[in-house]
Amino acid sequence: MSILIKGGRIITAADDYVADVFIANGTISTIGQSLDVSAERTIDATGKIVMPGAIDPHTHLEMFFGGTTTCDDFTSGTTAAAFGGTTTLIDFCVQTPGDTFAEALAKYHEKIERCKPVIDVGFHIAVTDLHTGGTLEDLAKLPDEGITSYKLFMAYKGAVMVDDATLFKVMQVAHETGALVMVHAENGDAIDIIVKETVAAGNTDPVWHARSRPMETEAEATNRAIQLARVADAPLYVVHVSCQPSVEPIALAREKGWRVWGESCTQYFFIDDSMMEAPNWEGAKYIYTPPPRPKDQQEHLWKAIRSDVLSAVSTDHCPFNWPEQKGINGREFQVVPNGGPGIENRLHMLWTFGVGTGRITPNRFVELVSTNVAKLFGLYPRKGTIAPGSDADIVIWDPNKKLTISAATHHTNVNYNLFEGTEVTGAPEVVLVRGQVIVENDELVAKPGAGQFVKRARFGEDLLAAPSAVV
Ligand code: URP
Ligand code: ZN
Ligand code: ZN
Repeated sequence: MSILIKGGRIITAADDYVADVFIANGTISTIGQSLDVSAERTIDATGKIVMPGAIDPHTHLEMFFGGTTTCDDFTSGTTAAAFGGTTTLIDFCVQTPGDTFAEALAKYHEKIERCKPVIDVGFHIAVTDLHTGGTLEDLAKLPDEGITSYKLFMAYKGAVMVDDATLFKVMQVAHETGALVMVHAENGDAIDIIVKETVAAGNTDPVWHARSRPMETEAEATNRAIQLARVADAPLYVVHVSCQPSVEPIALAREKGWRVWGESCTQYFFIDDSMMEAPNWEGAKYIYTPPPRPKDQQEHLWKAIRSDVLSAVSTDHCPFNWPEQKGINGREFQVVPNGGPGIENRLHMLWTFGVGTGRITPNRFVELVSTNVAKLFGLYPRKGTIAPGSDADIVIWDPNKKLTISAATHHTNVNYNLFEGTEVTGAPEVVLVRGQVIVENDELVAKPGAGQFVKRARFGEDLLAAPSAVV
């Protein structure tokens, strides 16, 4: 279907201008003033913003974790993402220890076959075991299949945490294959000791999750990963940076021109550790990792995203119902599965409290939620911008639309919302994925399976237009 989007204010990472956008065969065909083309459908975008669809590089859909499985699958998770203006996500294919990487990936491909996504999907491989299943040789083959980022957990001792030898070997493979290394940077050994001491002292309420994971343990691991990546000469992306002590080594590395990038997530700008003291074990809703930090950390994060010390904002959507999953025994924080929801509200929150308050510009907003992610994860310029030849992944954004965020109105399977009751101004009106209208007037209009698996390019390489789009 061909679509003409007329008269919108186009905002990309670099530009801000009013024009028409003509879409044909799923891609952006022409951009110009008062385009004289015949389209099957015309959408009047006067007074609206036309921006590239957002990309979420950090989600955990249908993931077995902490003894249970996240409650969004690729249908519900991608539907919620679409309602929030996200048109591509990259989920973590976590290797079950003992599995080969091919087995791990087959399990994730089965998930998107069974629960058809409505937006496009890519996978990172999360390496957990190089002893009994995965081999470095097999890891090296994954970029050929479009899996061009290797994730390692430096925390969650006894579960998915890797030692420094594994981390470093994977970095060496990434150097050879052109993959990007991603780390969950916390010192899992130190945290394991502190958690055990904390519980032994009888401190088991949710707030102790935060108190047993000091900011310095995140900073130490961040710096360790940076230095090791430097030795291996691999590009490094630090996920879910939560506080200034962890921002600092990233800032230093970037000042030196090293290939290091950092991401934060929506919740770290709004949720603080005091919220974990909510009565009746409700504080468990905020048990995610790294934990919510003291409120004063939030302005540091805003500064870091404004000044390009941090390059992206993701959601780390890892949803578990409360109290069915998050309340596990109502007694001990350390057995609660770690993770929080947020896939739908990233743009609402960042637009309202970032652009709306002047903390970030509209261009920077687009960069943080779309363009930088596309560039870092091998999706650019097919995705992450509005330009002829790019996929027509587009959000028509109403900057004046008001809504109150609530668990009752969101579209995920999870039964609570971290931002419950927050009033936001600015929301998607129409969302398109490769020229298909997915969401319109608060209704899901996507056909099942509208989303596709995307094979990503290697780090630093362009992802060219899909062959089907070349006419
Ligand atoms: O608590 C979190 N963040 N759970 C998801 C897994 C991870 O660490 O990203
Ligand atoms: Zn993590
Ligand atoms: Zn995560």
